[in-house]
Amino acid sequence: MTDTARANWRNEPTDWEQAGKLPRPHEGSGARSLGSLDVTSASMDPALLDLPWQVPLEEWPTDRLAALPRGISRHVVRFARLGDSLIAIKETGEHIARHEYHMLRKLRRLNVPCVAPVAVITGRTDEQGEPLDPVLVTRHLRFSLPYRAVFSQTLRQNTLTRLIDAQALLLVRLHLAGFYWGDVSLSNTLFRRDAGAFAAYLVDAETGELYPELSGGQREYDLEIARVNIAGELMDLAEGNLIEESVDPLATSERIMDSYRNLWRELTEQETFAPGERWRVDARIRRLNDLGFDVDELAIRTTADGTQVQLQPKVVDAGHHQRRLLRLTGLDAQENQARRLLNDMDSYRADNHPELDEELSAHLWVTQVFQPIVRAMPQELGSKLEPAEVVHEVLEHRWYMSEEQNRNVPMAEAVQSYMDNILRHRRDEAAILLTADTKTMKILGGGGNG
Ligand SMILES: Nc1ncnc2c1ncn2[C@@H]1O[C@H](COP(=O)(O)OP(=O)(O)O)[C@@H](O)[C@H]1O
Ligand SMILES: [Mg+2]
Repeated sequence: MTDTARANWRNEPTDWEQAGKLPRPHEGSGARSLGSLDVTSASMDPALLDLPWQVPLEEWPTDRLAALPRGISRHVVRFARLGDSLIAIKETGEHIARHEYHMLRKLRRLNVPCVAPVAVITGRTDEQGEPLDPVLVTRHLRFSLPYRAVFSQTLRQNTLTRLIDAQALLLVRLHLAGFYWGDVSLSNTLFRRDAGAFAAYLVDAETGELYPELSGGQREYDLEIARVNIAGELMDLAEGNLIEESVDPLATSERIMDSYRNLWRELTEQETFAPGERWRVDARIRRLNDLGFDVDELAIRTTADGTQVQLQPKVVDAGHHQRRLLRLTGLDAQENQARRLLNDMDSYRADNHPELDEELSAHLWVTQVFQPIVRAMPQELGSKLEPAEVVHEVLEHRWYMSEEQNRNVPMAEAVQSYMDNILRHRRDEAAILLTADTKTMKILGGGGNG
């Protein structure tokens, strides 16, 4: 399959849909010839039925289509308007369409970045009653670019590197979810710009399979496919003078291996700490957060002589922390606050009583860490800031202090420093706001000449 795919993308240019390129509009499509259509869809949009399914996709009228950049593919793929949104339509075999539809649904549920499936439509016939290929409909991924469109100008090594890192991260996420891709390539990935980097999404799940867990061999095999495909894709770009001359396609394709393996290690490796090295637990969690992962409770085990703490992060999707914090402590916080508080709660447990179960440890954390911080705050300010936010800020502050000084700064010291260095300024602000008249308030709020 991979070979076929490669043979195809090597021959075809990037297909930017040209307005006017497609033949005659088909008038009066409508429901008449729709009798035998079979639509599989979780949330059926009736507007789907208004599309001209009795026409081969290549002949769809241009007024139905959206001219957006598209990657290289072996099937006919087009973008069309559906109400206010855009969909991607791929003509393919029934088995493939169904397999891909269900695969994408599962991947979405597992929170892996991929395109969203909309429907599988079979039973298409043209106006003469001849059968037409079934289609897979997905929601068009907004702001996404196929990799060749990322290179509208000659691509610099730097950009290329970030693109490949994004691809590596996507592969890691898929593998963590138990997905074996089987056809990893830049062509089967969509990229979105993300604060100077790229975020990668899976677009083609045709060859993929989900397993409870992947073996090391399966992961390595997928990685090898990625390397070979990417090397081919880059050589292709080099031939078309689309990448900087100094870029070595083979060496660059190797980068996916290192990038992937580093990420995998960071996400899954067991680490051992001495109790009291809490800041190192925090550091690990922060690195994972920076990679875009949230960390569920840490699996914590003490070694036989009780001097070491082992840490194995469980990686989860966002949104989860708020619920977990609420369940464990009854505290209602924003997601980021909750994540920070839970991180602290977990390292507190690792540090103090790894043998306790998490409910009991959470209770101790509330009474011994959370509440004392809240109580330490000057009263007039305590009433102005949410307790969860105060504690969150103190923990942040402590983290920066610990990192700067390369030691585990005690909580009391961090609280004092927070009050002296951060809160003092805050307090002034609050004082102004508390005594300000409307005119001052307006000026403070940028309201101008009151
Ligand atoms: N939902 C979508 N959003 C944006 N682009 C899409 C979407 N689905 C397909 N495409 C575009 O169509 C191209 C081909 O799709 P793909 O599923 O890889 O087809 P094939 O199975 O023929 O290789 C992709 O590279 C991408 O550019
Ligand atoms: Mg493809």
